[in-house]
Amino acid sequence: MKYDFNRVVNRYDTASVKWDEVEKRFGEKDLLPMWVADMDFMVPPPVLDAIKRRAEHGIMGYTSQPESYFDAVMDWMEKRHKWTIKKEWIYFSPGVVPGLNMIIQAFTSPGDKILIQPPVYYPFAGSIINNGRQLVYNQLLFEDGLYKIDFNDLFKKLAGKDVKLLILCSPHNPVGRVWSKEELAELGDMCLDCQTLVVSDEIHCDITYENYVHIPFCAVSDEFGKNSITCTAPSKTFNMPGLQTANLIIPNPAIAETYARYMKKLGLLRPNVFGILLTESAYRCGSKWLDQLLEYLQQNLVFLTGYIRDRIPQIKVVKPEGTYLVWLDCRDLGLGVKQLEQFMLKQAKVALDDGYIFGPGGEGFTRINIACPRSTLEEGLRRIETAVKKLSVMNDS
Ligand SMILES: Cc1ncc(COP(=O)(O)O)c(C=O)c1O
Repeated sequence: MKYDFNRVVNRYDTASVKWDEVEKRFGEKDLLPMWVADMDFMVPPPVLDAIKRRAEHGIMGYTSQPESYFDAVMDWMEKRHKWTIKKEWIYFSPGVVPGLNMIIQAFTSPGDKILIQPPVYYPFAGSIINNGRQLVYNQLLFEDGLYKIDFNDLFKKLAGKDVKLLILCSPHNPVGRVWSKEELAELGDMCLDCQTLVVSDEIHCDITYENYVHIPFCAVSDEFGKNSITCTAPSKTFNMPGLQTANLIIPNPAIAETYARYMKKLGLLRPNVFGILLTESAYRCGSKWLDQLLEYLQQNLVFLTGYIRDRIPQIKVVKPEGTYLVWLDCRDLGLGVKQLEQFMLKQAKVALDDGYIFGPGGEGFTRINIACPRSTLEEGLRRIETAVKKLSVMNDS
């Protein structure tokens, strides 16, 4: 079956954060939303059928994960990522960000140091600060168009053996890196030596471009597995983040027990009926849909890259290896940090996530979400092109 990713679905009045909250959040009318990591595509048809059948049953009682749920998660990881996981490693969380917050609370104390690698998904810093922990930055290096981990700096930051957690973003949002085995190994060895627990956020693991393969941090070695918690979810892959369902993979029984105890303390014992059902259904039936989605995203990326190269050469595309979020280098527009944000909102009329919110190194960049029908992407790029042309005329006169 051929799935139609060109179809434009009206998302207004669906309580959508991306579409219905855009004006409130950005303070401007008539914006084209290309910001939060949520796709403008419907979930795979078999998943939709599963939810309809379950809704028709009509009783929404307390729910737990059946054996078949765990089997579906394990099969998916094995087939898509050659990653063998065990049922007893799988722990529920009502979303990855809630999971990160619970991990911070369960494994660290107020004032403890937690390291992240900016520019990076901004709720990492938010979760650390909101919990009263100390933020430690290991800023990524940007050299010849490629982002790399600054291992010298990382070693310095970890060497004091007082950094309790490292939150790894793999693949990395927003710079789009799919970390190599060598990079993961170097980082993982340092964390083992320095007694830093690795929390690997792999929510984007299923979205990689041609020639790039995601490697689960936990799968690099048994020792890494025992020193890590991996956050996974079907939400980015199948566009179901509203279901608030994630799985944490925890191979170390002592770490798992601490997490389970903390969940109990919060009374978070049961998942929601649709989250469980759709996760299982997507992992069981969504493979072909995902393959076609990846082709479509690849073509969207080619389209965006060509469009910007030919018509908006003042902006440079940082080539993503994974994720449907593309990091744009806008420094040649010559705008100040907040000016770039205002320019995209007020002149171009597109809602993007401006680079500075991702922390140090994000200034002068912006992030665009290309998981939308080609016509939407084209409209967004056309708006940016028109605004940039006017800006160039103003600068020249
Ligand atoms: C790296 C990363 N982690 C977590 C999330 C959100 O996860 P959840 O919706 O499950 O809390 C996102 C969403 O954009 C993300 O990019």
